[in-house]
Formats: sequence, structure tokens, C-alpha cells
Amino acid sequence: MSDQLPKLIFLIGFMGSGKSHEGDLLAAYLGLPFIDLDGWIEDQQGRTISEIFRTEGEDSFRNIETAALQQAAHHLLSQAISGDFAGIISTGGGTPCFHDNMDWMNANGVTVWLNLPVAVLAMRLSKEKSKRPLIADLSDDELHHFIEKKLEERSSYYGKSTITINEVVDPITLTQKLRNA
Ligand code: S3P
Repeated sequence: MSDQLPKLIFLIGFMGSGKSHEGDLLAAYLGLPFIDLDGWIEDQQGRTISEIFRTEGEDSFRNIETAALQQAAHHLLSQAISGDFAGIISTGGGTPCFHDNMDWMNANGVTVWLNLPVAVLAMRLSKEKSKRPLIADLSDDELHHFIEKKLEERSSYYGKSTITINEVVDPITLTQKLRNA
């Protein structure tokens, strides 16, 4: 891979799968710049994801998200000099499932799906609903069903990823998988 231009690493997966946390750890381990896409959107827009959903609706958010994905990627690529990877972007849970984002990410880097069981996602998300407009008003029972249904719908997008990780993974193991991809 080292004779090619540096690529991006995109972490994808359902809300609560640990994309931001794993991205942060991997970035520190590899010494790469890291962008959390939700945070990038909030900084650029000067308002929270919840506010964007509330005032403009989901369709508008998805347009903003696609533009932000491409801006963040270009930002990292424009700063990259050499090496296998230019940087890491942790995406939002819905990012791969709208517009042609999944194909675009695969054309511009390596996609890594953090695929955790519904029960683990439900347990994690039950404590972190408020900042996530799609689940903020759901009871724990509704949340479990929502995750099952949405995950099934989204799996055809997530399943296009270069690498699938089915357990909590450490940066060393993840790096080995990335270098073999
Ligand atoms: C969403 C996931 C969120 C955020 C938005 C929509 C989704 O990101 O982008 O609330 O559609 O799954 P996280 O996966 O980082 O929570």
C-alpha cells in the first residue's frame, strides 16, 4: 500500500458502536489526524445535530452531512504528505446509508464497520439517548426494537465495508487488519 497515495480510514456503524472512541484511540496509536464527523458538523454549523434535525428536518441534515463528509475528507487529504493513511474520520451512524456516501468512502479510503450485537448497542444507547434525535424520545423497549429494525435496514450499506469488526477491538489489531486490507 505504501507506493500509493495516502488513504483515509472511515469508521462506520450504528450509533453506540464506539466509532468516536475507537477513532480517537486509533489516531493516537498511528499518530494520524482524526475528525469526528458529528463534531465537525456542529462546529461548522454552530448548532447541535439535534437543533439541525429540529429546525430543518432529517433530509436537510443528510445533505449537510454529505457535504461535511467530503469537506472533512478533502481537509485531511490536502494535509497528507506520505505514508499509508492520511487520517481517520468517524462517521455518524446514518452517514453510509444516504446519497452515495458509502461508495464515495470506499472510493476514497478504507471503510471499517464496527458491528456490535443489538443487546450491546441497546445497553450503551439507553444511557446516551438525549443527544441523538432519532432515539431521544424512545423507551428502552422501543429502543431495542428500533435498533433491530434500523440495523437490518442499514446492514446492506454497512456490509459494503472493506473490513468488518465483530467485537470490541484494540488499535493494534485494527492496524494489522488495515495494513492487510
Ligand atoms: C445518526 C447517528 C448520529 C448522528 C445523528 C444521526 C443516525 O451519530 O449523526 O444523530 O442516523 O444513526 P452517532 O452514530 O455518532 O451517534
